[in-house]
Amino acid sequence: MSRRKTLRHIHQLYSDGTPITMVTAYDFTFARLVEKADLDIILIGDSLGNVIQGQDTTVPVEVDDIIYHTRAVMRGNNTAHILADLPFMSYQAGADDALRNAGRLLKEGGAQAVKLEGGEPVAHLVERMSQAGIPVVGHLGLTPQSVHAFGGYRVQGRGDEAATQLLADARALQEAGAYMLVLEMVPADLAAKVTEALSIPTIGIGAGNQTSGQVLVIQDLLGMNSDFKPKFVKRFAALEETIVDALSAYGDEVRHRAFPDDDHSY
Ligand code: KIV
Repeated sequence: MSRRKTLRHIHQLYSDGTPITMVTAYDFTFARLVEKADLDIILIGDSLGNVIQGQDTTVPVEVDDIIYHTRAVMRGNNTAHILADLPFMSYQAGADDALRNAGRLLKEGGAQAVKLEGGEPVAHLVERMSQAGIPVVGHLGLTPQSVHAFGGYRVQGRGDEAATQLLADARALQEAGAYMLVLEMVPADLAAKVTEALSIPTIGIGAGNQTSGQVLVIQDLLGMNSDFKPKFVKRFAALEETIVDALSAYGDEVRHRAFPDDDHSY
């Protein structure tokens, strides 16, 4: 009997008003730790382009990359709801592509649901996938796959026109069958308004604390990169320092032939 959280668990948290906890993970080791921390959802995000592959943007990420990392995550975590990103150009060219690639994330990766970026223009894709039995999450606000169109990573939805459009996009995605929305880098009052207007959960990242839940990239919340600190990231640990200290101690002991000592030898 699987202990994995399903769509029904997520809906239950939402109806109970219990904030939903989501974090990214891309491998067995972190996925195992996420299970121990009992977080609700793991997102195998295309942010793996940045934090795993070292790319400048998420644009180069391939469907095969997401499948590979989703499989690794599945082996490390038996309880979280598993959501996988549809990467850039795996759905934008049309519904057949979207359906085929979303199907691969479920069949080959083992994901329970997929996420795509965009509002009204992708609503017809959400509808096709939902009708095919694929649970879909939308992503509005700062949508990193469009970084070149935005000209950088900036707060979205500022001003009346942009806020009205974001609300219309959110409604269109819900109407098309999306079961949850990620809101990234939007003003807190707009995120609260969108959350209030919808009957599906919203998950915020840089969207204030009135959304139905929160998501952060795991390396960011663990403080693993001191060079990257947008305002919305809170570091709940300082692992960069801890890891560098441990690696330096290991290097010193090896160089001085202090490791391995008798306790670590056969
Ligand atoms: O790819 C990702 O990690 C994401 C989150 C930032 C929501 O889409």
